[in-house]
Amino acid sequence: MKKINWADLSFGYCKTDYNVRCTYKNGTWGEIELHTDENINIHMAATCLHYGQEAFEGLKAFRGKDGKIRAFRMDENAKRLQSSCRGVMMPEFPLDKFTEAMVMLIKKNEHFVPPYESGASLYIRPLLIGTGAQVGVKPTNEYLFVAFAMPVGSYFKNGFQTSPFVIMREYDRAAPLGTGTYKIGGNYAASLVAGERAHDMGYSAVFYLDAKEKKYIDECGAANFFGIKNNTYITPKSSSILPSITNKSLMVLAEDLGLKVEQRPIPVEELATFEEAGACGTAAVISPVQRIDDYDLKKSYIFSEDGKPGKISEKLYHKLRAIQYGEEPDVHNWTTIIE
Ligand code: PLP
Ligand code: COI
Repeated sequence: MKKINWADLSFGYCKTDYNVRCTYKNGTWGEIELHTDENINIHMAATCLHYGQEAFEGLKAFRGKDGKIRAFRMDENAKRLQSSCRGVMMPEFPLDKFTEAMVMLIKKNEHFVPPYESGASLYIRPLLIGTGAQVGVKPTNEYLFVAFAMPVGSYFKNGFQTSPFVIMREYDRAAPLGTGTYKIGGNYAASLVAGERAHDMGYSAVFYLDAKEKKYIDECGAANFFGIKNNTYITPKSSSILPSITNKSLMVLAEDLGLKVEQRPIPVEELATFEEAGACGTAAVISPVQRIDDYDLKKSYIFSEDGKPGKISEKLYHKLRAIQYGEEPDVHNWTTIIE
């Protein structure tokens, strides 16, 4: 194994020793298999290649202060994958098989789980694709589940530091009655043009408004949004955003810290009233928002004058990380120790 400089890891692909796979044929899922090959061999008429029968997940495992490895809320990822599968007519991957696959994958790649001191983690990417040959637009009858893992550092360049986001009304990520609540490749393909443009302009990500009215806040690139004001954690309710497991966890931790929690439509102008703002997700953890520029209306909402994260965002960040790294008791039963 090549020596890994844990402290310098960014968020990118890195080869590890094993991946796990499971195939669906004749109406049933087979056994979980261990593989070392990074390639998959599929038919050129597979439905994932033509009609986007594809879903994926993202979760993390952490090496704790006590040396133990903890996977964070993998049951939630298992359930969300099932929901995404229903969304694009793929057979649901059984919850117990998902857990079995994750445990096998993490154990087999154990030496790729970064040491506690590095602050890095093991990112796990499960995916499920239609592999059966099919040219008519309908679901196929053969599928493949694959999961691989890689050590990662922070998703946004500077880790837990503020960064700017941009509203651009000429792009939509997902339609209100479309597929935005599923974690499927098509949503990410639809976001690439806007995302690259935002990056070229120096922003971390696109700040999406609802596609129908452009009136309410949706999400921030590949992360959910939260705003803080009057000791309240406020996050969008929308039919076109991904139900973030990090956000779901932060809502609980916010309550634990004595904040009120509101999940409701947030009009874009309300941004002017927030004391703090953040993007949250598995890869993003909490990425505090420095400012949001409204490209069309030529105005900015500024949340941090000095570029520092807000006090409550910081508390939430440390609370979440403390549970993930086993520094604090896991009172909500969110972690699974991999032994
Ligand atoms: N929203 C989108 C579009 C995402 O891709 C992600 C990443 O998974 C999130 C939100 C955050 O979700 P989670 O906290 O479950 O990772
Ligand atoms: C995640 O946070 O797990 C994501 O999937 C975000 C992005 C890398 C697509």
